[in-house]
Amino acid sequence: MANIFPRYTNFLPLKIAVCIGALAIGVVLAVTYYATPKAQRVGYMPDQPIPYDHELHVNQLGLDCRHCHSFVEKSGHANIPSANTCANCHHKTKGNIKSDSPRLAPLMDAIDNDKPVQWVRVTKAPDYVYFNHSAHLNRGVSCIECHGEVNKMRVVFHAKPLSMGQCIDCHRAPEDALRPLEEVFNLEYDVRKFIEKNPSAKSSIQEFIAGSAETEDLDLSKEDDAQKAMGLMLKERWNVRPKESCFTCHR
Ligand code: HEC
Ligand code: HEC
Ligand code: HEC
Ligand code: HEC
Ligand code: HEC
Repeated sequence: MANIFPRYTNFLPLKIAVCIGALAIGVVLAVTYYATPKAQRVGYMPDQPIPYDHELHVNQLGLDCRHCHSFVEKSGHANIPSANTCANCHHKTKGNIKSDSPRLAPLMDAIDNDKPVQWVRVTKAPDYVYFNHSAHLNRGVSCIECHGEVNKMRVVFHAKPLSMGQCIDCHRAPEDALRPLEEVFNLEYDVRKFIEKNPSAKSSIQEFIAGSAETEDLDLSKEDDAQKAMGLMLKERWNVRPKESCFTCHR
């Protein structure tokens, strides 16, 4: 019987295998490239040595972010508080709140033996990225834009991608994010409520939007429009011009 398959097809399985192999490598590379930095880190929530709860300390007790992250406004880097910051309330020699709680045992150990608590870092930009906190906070960009609703987190997790795309989207249109400086640390801020409660802010915004054809149709009773009006006004007043050149963030 004649061989229906010519001789060279003996190599076909090998060729197919090579092709599938190449394809698989391609897929893996693509997934790593597209998914790893941008998507997979969202939701990252490492176990911490002490079950410190932002929801309790910020929303219920009313502590300001700067009570603990005390450098965030002044320096490029935010700081994780030292055990002594917690000791003001939790150590038996000072506030003595829950000092005997087993959940606070690692904290007592750190304070008494003068060693740091081994908090696990959640947010980390790659080494080749230059970032600066104070440059953002002093221009009306709130923590919530980059870290999400930390005030509602019982355990901190990576809420936003913080990809290059996220940085650049805002650098192109900062008006979507800018808010009055006194509201930067208020994660419950609501632009429409702010405008209603501050008659002078309301009249300057109304005056501002009436001033150009581009803004005159904005409706302050709609959240997006109210944010746009506020953002455009602050951008102009403060002359906010975030840079987009590569050297801004890669130096
Ligand atoms: C009582 C002290 C305290 C206050 C107040 C506080 N934090 Fe924290 N924060 C911590 C501690 C401790 C950690 C490290 C442990 C953890 O991740 O839960 C932390 C971690 C974080 C992280 C994650 C850092 C990383 O590893 O990437 C962010 C973001 C953050 N805080 C934002 C905020 C914001 C925003 C506010 C104000 C709304 C705030 N914190 C108020 C103590 C505090
Ligand atoms: C301004 C005071 C204050 C500061 C500063 C503070 N806490 Fe607290 N913390 C409290 C109060 C009040 C409670 C609630 C106590 C209760 O449930 O009766 C609490 C509860 C806790 C609990 C839960 C304890 C349990 O057994 O239920 C942990 C864990 C905790 N804090 C960790 C920390 C850490 C870590 C820091 C420093 C980063 C810190 N706290 C800073 C006031 C403070
Ligand atoms: C414009 C985006 C942006 C804003 C706004 C922002 N952060 Fe961050 N935050 C980052 C990035 C990016 C990192 C990682 C920085 C790094 O690895 O060098 C970070 C890291 C941190 C860390 C870990 C320690 C550090 O400095 O690396 C803490 C704590 C923190 N931020 C707290 C805050 C608090 C509190 C606010 C508001 C008061 C805030 N951040 C506002 C982007 C932001
Ligand atoms: C929600 C808006 C927003 C996001 C997100 C954002 N930025 Fe910015 N960025 C700004 C604004 C506003 C300024 C201030 C521009 C000005 O002062 O004119 C700024 C300024 C900067 C500067 C200049 C600081 C200096 O020292 O001159 C750097 C660097 C920077 N951003 C890096 C980043 C990086 C990296 C990311 C992402 C991890 C990021 N930004 C995300 C709004 C944003
Ligand atoms: C506003 C800040 C900002 C600007 C401007 C910026 N980058 Fe980036 N870039 C980042 C951040 C943040 C990352 C890290 C992304 C991550 O970790 O997901 C990054 C990552 C990268 C990477 C690594 C590959 C990747 O996708 O993760 C390359 C390459 C890069 N940038 C090139 C550039 C070039 C070229 C320019 C100018 C056209 C530029 N960047 C402008 C913030 C910026």
